[in-house]
Amino acid sequence: MGIQISPSILTADLARLAEAAAAVEPDADWLHVDVMDNHFVPNLTLGLPVVESLLKATALPVDCHLMIDDPDRWAPGYAEAGAGSVTFHVEAAHAPVRLARELRRLGARAGMALKPATPVEPYEDLLPELDMLLLMTVEPGFGGQPFLDVVLPKVRRARQLIDRYGGQVWLQVDGGISPATVERAAAAGADVFVAGSAVYAGEDPAAVVRALRAGAEAAAAAGA
Ligand code: DX5
Ligand code: ZN
Repeated sequence: MGIQISPSILTADLARLAEAAAAVEPDADWLHVDVMDNHFVPNLTLGLPVVESLLKATALPVDCHLMIDDPDRWAPGYAEAGAGSVTFHVEAAHAPVRLARELRRLGARAGMALKPATPVEPYEDLLPELDMLLLMTVEPGFGGQPFLDVVLPKVRRARQLIDRYGGQVWLQVDGGISPATVERAAAAGADVFVAGSAVYAGEDPAAVVRALRAGAEAAAAAGA
């Protein structure tokens, strides 16, 4: 599939979500939507009604990142609504295999996210159940935090596990991704890049998306 960029609307103007989506639509591969419930993370953002409206307002496929307790109960609704990808946190899921299968059955790509301190090795056998593994490169909950280089060895190990498995599992990184950090994440083996503040803090979101893609592609090619 190659390199993909998924701008996060978390730091966009939340009263103008359709405009935020339109600003990156020709250049981005996905639109990343951060759902937070003030339980799994200490922050509250938006939920299914807003995602349903956004799905109608953009042609981009929506990449829902659910930072919520009890995703077993709530995540399938995002797949039913039409999100192209639904990612739950393994730390919060009661039955991750059952949930991943349910998401796929409902037509979404199934993603599983790990916080920075959650090891990836215990989940090697789950890779055939997943379409994407998300390794958080900040503690989830807020945009604008600095990239955690301490996660890079885990990104490299996850890349090895995915390559050994041999199936199509995308490796997403989320948190602190900018033109200054995207290359080291790509060199470590990530192929889907979420960026919030780097994209929406400036004047030209689309130009940042293009810069992220160029940086990631260059680093991936150098490592190939
Ligand atoms: C943080 C969210 C991220 C956030 C990233 O918990 O999952 O998607 O929007 O924001 P930046 O790119 O600013 O770190
Ligand atoms: Zn996110």
